[in-house]
Amino acid sequence: MSLLIKNAGLPEGGQADIYIENGVILHIRRAESGIEDYDARVSLADRIDASGLCVMPAFADMHTHLRTPGQTHKETLETGCAAAVRGGYTAVCAMANTDPVCSSSEQAQFIAGEANALGLCDVFQCVSLTDGFDGKSTRHLDSLSPGGAVRCVSEDGRGVADGAVFLEAVRKANAFGVLPLIHAEDARFSHVDTAAAEDLETLRDLYLIEKYGCAAHFCHVSTRASAQAILDAKQRGAAVTFEVTPHHLALNESVDFRVNPPLRPEADRRFLLDITAAGLTDVIATDHAPHTESDKRAGAPGLVGLETAFPVCYTVLCVQMGMPLTALISMMSANPRRLLGMPEARLGEGFPADLVLADLNVRHTVGASGFASLGRNTPFDGMTYQGAVCAAIKGGNVVYIDDK
Ligand code: DOR
Repeated sequence: MSLLIKNAGLPEGGQADIYIENGVILHIRRAESGIEDYDARVSLADRIDASGLCVMPAFADMHTHLRTPGQTHKETLETGCAAAVRGGYTAVCAMANTDPVCSSSEQAQFIAGEANALGLCDVFQCVSLTDGFDGKSTRHLDSLSPGGAVRCVSEDGRGVADGAVFLEAVRKANAFGVLPLIHAEDARFSHVDTAAAEDLETLRDLYLIEKYGCAAHFCHVSTRASAQAILDAKQRGAAVTFEVTPHHLALNESVDFRVNPPLRPEADRRFLLDITAAGLTDVIATDHAPHTESDKRAGAPGLVGLETAFPVCYTVLCVQMGMPLTALISMMSANPRRLLGMPEARLGEGFPADLVLADLNVRHTVGASGFASLGRNTPFDGMTYQGAVCAAIKGGNVVYIDDK
């Protein structure tokens, strides 16, 4: 399998041809020298004319809800992976709040195997931090294995109320080189003050992680206090990373949309935007959480985010805040790939051909009815953003192309 991408714009400027063979970038030639039909293999390659488009390493989402097993009325592996590649993602990390909760390596491997067999994107399935989300037992983590298929553990959707149990789970995961993804929320406070619920548990978790020399990643950080506490801990050398979501960067509490953590006051949004534009955020993750219309009407929190993440982030960070595109690529591709234990995907010879092509100039109005995801629950419906994903390439194969 070979593929020649002609005339692709590069994130740092300039233009190049990219020749891919057997899933790897074999040659990149700047526009002046170009790749022409200098040998038979290249002349036989499939071609994409990428004139006017920008090529980037494909995105990796550390925070996706794929809803398998048990909730396939909200999303199937097919529709979830199709949504991913339409958004420019060739890897996603699926949360464990399925039905039943994913609490074993075997189950995780089974789900990931089914999803990976679709050939669209790499799927990493999380195992829960506590067994079946019982908040008590971590015995199921004893069967994790170093370098195994399970890269992350997560209780996403809830915090772990008992600090001792939390610490035990994090230490067990770390012992296997598995990364804990933390949903910091003290549920006993959620009905009183959702920001305090997030901040209290973030502070407790940071304290334990630092005191016991653990490593962990904080999910969907949404308040100024939590983000600042994590930045301070990083400054002190703690082995922590964190993600923010496109919706917490782009929207504030004036938008009436239920998601957990909730959309926050403008001061929090502004802080997240400022630190992200300054390059201090590790990862932008979608928290793609599909729900049916009736579940949503009944109050289910969450939004679908895979198909809107790039245009939303490109607009609010690069167009409006002047953040370099290369920084956005670090947060949407390089850093999440590294945290998921994936090989680096640089625009360089010898690197995996996991690529995305985007039109950075087009303005596009979000139309939820056209999503590949089964979920239509998005606060971005009808909003206009700049930038659109036109194609996704995984291992040299075109897994999505906008042929309109
Ligand atoms: O809004 C959310 N929805 N937040 C979560 O933590 C879970 C997610 C879901 O699974 O629907």
